Amino acid sequence: MPKVALIFGTRPECIKMAPVIKALEETDGIDVATISSGQHKEMLEQVYRWFHLAPHEDLSIMRADQTLFDITTSTLSGLQRIFAGEKFDLALVHGDTTTTLAATLAAFYSGIPVGHVEAGLRTYTYQAPWPEEMNRHVVDHVAALHFAPTELARQHLVQEHIPEEGIFLTGNTVIDALLTVVEPEYRFPDPRLASLDGRVLLITAHRRESFGAPLEAAFHAILDIVEAEPDLTAVYPVHRNPHVLEPAHRILGGHPRIRLIEPLDYKDFSNLMARCTLILSDSGGVQEEAPTLGKPVLVLREVTERPEALDAGTARLVGCDRERIVATALTLLRDSCEYDKMAKAANPFGDGTAGKKIAQIVKQFLCS
Ligand code: UD1
Ligand code: UDP
Repeated sequence: MPKVALIFGTRPECIKMAPVIKALEETDGIDVATISSGQHKEMLEQVYRWFHLAPHEDLSIMRADQTLFDITTSTLSGLQRIFAGEKFDLALVHGDTTTTLAATLAAFYSGIPVGHVEAGLRTYTYQAPWPEEMNRHVVDHVAALHFAPTELARQHLVQEHIPEEGIFLTGNTVIDALLTVVEPEYRFPDPRLASLDGRVLLITAHRRESFGAPLEAAFHAILDIVEAEPDLTAVYPVHRNPHVLEPAHRILGGHPRIRLIEPLDYKDFSNLMARCTLILSDSGGVQEEAPTLGKPVLVLREVTERPEALDAGTARLVGCDRERIVATALTLLRDSCEYDKMAKAANPFGDGTAGKKIAQIVKQFLCS
């Protein structure tokens, strides 16, 4: 029976691969192996719980404050061992992390064709997001199968002379995942979330290129917004990266209407997105998910590889500029027409069927 390896290592890769894993496991005639690099630890284990996943192999590479060199070399050598011991007919990777890049290299060196889920995203600026934009380019130019989430992503690949017969428009698998966890009357187990009253500003931030002064400016903007709106509570599940944790607690800690909490599991976080009023985030996944829940996202970045969200009107770029963030947020919080324009725009990222489409294409590739 042909065998597929699905490789992931961080929270978003696992959330977005979960629907593909499920669909492939339900497909007859394919053997499925899941391999985690363990680039993330606690944040990945939270995802396993919700999607009932237990990777067949776990390289457990995460170290505190790890470097890109650490992640690349340990994933590459771990996968060398696994690929030497077992025959795989296809390696599926997701997105643009360092795990994605190292897994692609390992598969290429081992003669295993690569399928890229969430292919074709581009900013065409290697410094933003850094290092993810470089990772995407390399992976797309090595992969045999490309699962493009949107028509724009498909066009990028075609323009880069990637053979069209290997490109498939599928939608983004994150919408499949989201639809399995959001509940209309969700009751938060955590009393800090169950007791939320009034309007809620939800925050996430983790991009490497924002570390230092830009991230600190964004945190000062959050203080300004909360001070300006007395019925607003900010909830911020802080990423475990020490470069985020330290300034978040130093600048935002102790404010009575700012709740700094641990990263939330996927079900709590998704339902908190559904509960909140406005989102401030530099996350890729959040930009894709929020429109399904009718929540405007102010993107804490200068460029995005998801311009579909800007065009659809579901997201706006505000960078890490304190004044711009405050002005845009206050406009949306105070002007219901402006708010509704963003909240009611349609989601351009998919309809929840991407995982099944990808599984069918993989079956055709392996069994024809
Ligand atoms: C990584 C990806 C980024 C992705 C993000 C999703 C790279 C270069 N970056 O960034 O593309 O958008 O994941 O969140 O691949 N940590 C923990 N526990 C965890 C996870 C992280 O303690 O479960 C801490 C560790 O100190 C770790 C640090 O966070 O060294 C950074 O993690 P890392 O995966 O290197 O970078 P992210 O910022 O998470
Ligand atoms: N997410 C989560 N818990 C949190 C914050 C985010 O489960 O506390 C989910 C979110 O819904 C999205 C994904 O994690 O699906 C985004 O991950 P992240 O922002 O770390 O990475 P990116 O998408 O930017 O690569």
